[in-house]
Amino acid sequence: MEALKGIRVLDLSHVQAGPTGTQLMAWLGADVIKVEPPTGDITRGQLRDVPNADSLYFTMLNCNKRSITVNMKSPGGKQVITELLGKSDVVIENFGPGVIDRLGFSWEKVREINPRVVMASIKGFGSSGPYAEFKAYENVAQAMGGAMSVTGVPEGPPFVTGAQIGDTGTGLHMVIGVLAALHHRNRSGKGQYVEVAMMDGVMNLCRVKFRDHQRLTRGPLTEFSVPTRQGMGDVPRGGNDSGGGQLGNAIHCKPLGPNDYLYVVVQEVVWEALANKVGGESFAKDPRFAMIGERRKNQNEMWKRLNEFASKYTKRELMALLNELDVPCGPIMGTEDLANDEHVRGREMWVELDHPQRGKWWNVGMPIKLSESPARIERSPLLGEHTEGVLKEVLGYSEEKIAQLKQAGAFSNPPKKTA
Ligand SMILES: CC(C)(COP(=O)(O)OP(=O)(O)OC[C@H]1O[C@@H](n2cnc3c(N)ncnc32)[C@H](O)[C@@H]1OP(=O)(O)O)[C@@H](O)C(=O)NCCC(=O)NCCS
Repeated sequence: MEALKGIRVLDLSHVQAGPTGTQLMAWLGADVIKVEPPTGDITRGQLRDVPNADSLYFTMLNCNKRSITVNMKSPGGKQVITELLGKSDVVIENFGPGVIDRLGFSWEKVREINPRVVMASIKGFGSSGPYAEFKAYENVAQAMGGAMSVTGVPEGPPFVTGAQIGDTGTGLHMVIGVLAALHHRNRSGKGQYVEVAMMDGVMNLCRVKFRDHQRLTRGPLTEFSVPTRQGMGDVPRGGNDSGGGQLGNAIHCKPLGPNDYLYVVVQEVVWEALANKVGGESFAKDPRFAMIGERRKNQNEMWKRLNEFASKYTKRELMALLNELDVPCGPIMGTEDLANDEHVRGREMWVELDHPQRGKWWNVGMPIKLSESPARIERSPLLGEHTEGVLKEVLGYSEEKIAQLKQAGAFSNPPKKTA
């Protein structure tokens, strides 16, 4: 049985941060009803690769959901949402600051409608503090949560990371909060409000950088291959340094192409075997490298030796060689590598789907594997595909009632704002 079977999620979320979280909830078995404005989630039409078809941006983040279109600014639309709230366990939104209150569905209002409902809001910066009124996107969160300042090389500009830690990362945090609140609801009978800020989520993912921030007051960070400053200053960008207790870096391999790197962790216990392989006993026992403290100080020389050795092998050959020595390592895998990787396919992490508008396409699979409740991945819904079905099945509306609401503009675009 699906783990979240019987849980209904009213998903008012859009773009990426909310939808990735609610897609996970759908894969865990929840009935996710995605409420869209009559124009649809903006991502349906963004970065389109097939004319007039839902974009991959949309299809990859909205699987296993039902889509209904509701004009939440109209009285009839508000009535539909109010009644759906009465039949839902969870409601999720990531509108800009103040939008949900203007629509008339603040937490105070929502809990009046259904005291058992769990409500989750994702905002760039939460509901309090000087930044609360600001909108946010992925890279704004990466900039303000600390991630950009520690990514890149010291002499270069700060970099964003390609992993969507601000959006998808916040979606994950949100789901954790919702599941905890549901557990609490099951014991107390009361729903609660879950607030997740993208900036907070990025700070959480940068936790170990704040470890280093405080360590800097005691002295330089010896594990970095670049100089670090003593005294409560910024943690530097450390390139591909591991930034952990074990030294690590990306080693360039044959034929020295842009992704021909193997990430190697020189774990303390494997030093001797690794060094013997790379440079024989003289390297392994060299006092500049034999002990971890000295190896940290002289790591740039060590990386040079490892790079020289690596240039004789491809990343896969070097991985095989180092795996025999139990050295933790991994080749830099591009999207093309991953899409064709036997391991990835075997774990159902690259899943083929069909879609009425676009035909065959692929989605990244469900990263959380439950032994009793495996995920079944189904295509994303077309815009408003389930509006009538949901109104009839969940709310028991008749054809006539639906027609009346339609007539009254409950499912039409709200009038354009005039300046
Ligand atoms: C992502 C974001 C920047 C987009 O901003 P935006 O395109 O201006 O969208 P908003 O959420 O502010 O909503 C815009 C309008 O659409 C309206 N709208 C949304 N759904 C509607 C519906 N079903 N029916 C009627 N109107 C609707 C809202 O009421 C709002 O109107 P208003 O400004 O007159 O009150 C903003 O939503 C945001 O900061 N969200 C929180 C942080 C976040 O999740 N960011 C990451 C996104 S991946």
